[in-house]
Amino acid sequence: MPKLSIAILASGRGSNFQSIIDGIEEGEIDGKIKVLITNNPNARAIQRAKEHDIPYEVLSSELYHSREAMDARIKEILDSNKINLVVLAGYMRIIKSKSLLEQYKHKIINIHPSLLPAFKGSTDAQKDAYDYGCKISGLTIHFVSDDIDGGEIILQKAVDISSCSSGDEVADKILEYENKSYREVVAMFSKGTFEIKGRHVKYVPD
Ligand code: GAR
Repeated sequence: MPKLSIAILASGRGSNFQSIIDGIEEGEIDGKIKVLITNNPNARAIQRAKEHDIPYEVLSSELYHSREAMDARIKEILDSNKINLVVLAGYMRIIKSKSLLEQYKHKIINIHPSLLPAFKGSTDAQKDAYDYGCKISGLTIHFVSDDIDGGEIILQKAVDISSCSSGDEVADKILEYENKSYREVVAMFSKGTFEIKGRHVKYVPD
């Protein structure tokens, strides 16, 4: 049986979702994606799930008016699939439920397209970095806590954006590294554990 039972939460294109699918199919990640959860019925991520026979659930905002109701349904799906790693891959909603966050503490990870704490909480961090005139930006993969984009950092990658001439160009450049890094981190979860002391995260291979 694969070590990881993974749930992916995604709202859009799903290139990071795809990189994890590829990592599993190419044998780098010892895991199985049990379910894709999306809040967007038009997400390209759904198409990817269909192409790879991954079950998916659409929790549209029209059906789930309150964040609490949506988080409660997410928790039900995670529990019933015995999920041990939740991967937020371009999931553009905030998980607020205390019980979900507590039960899945250090089992939910997120990718943010900046070097946190720069542009923490931004929904357009690449454009923000460009507008600010940053020469270096990058990505951060971190644990999810009740502090938005504030959980302990697992991995960061700096990306030189000095030659970019728009926020979109910055986003494209960082995305290439996101796809590689997210796959790498999920593979690490499948082949070891992370020790967390305060804000410090150390990887211990099996
Ligand atoms: C990625 O750039 C990811 O870092 C970002 O959304 C994009 C999703 O792309 N996430 C956030 O900004 C979260 N605050 P994808 O759908 O192709 O994986």
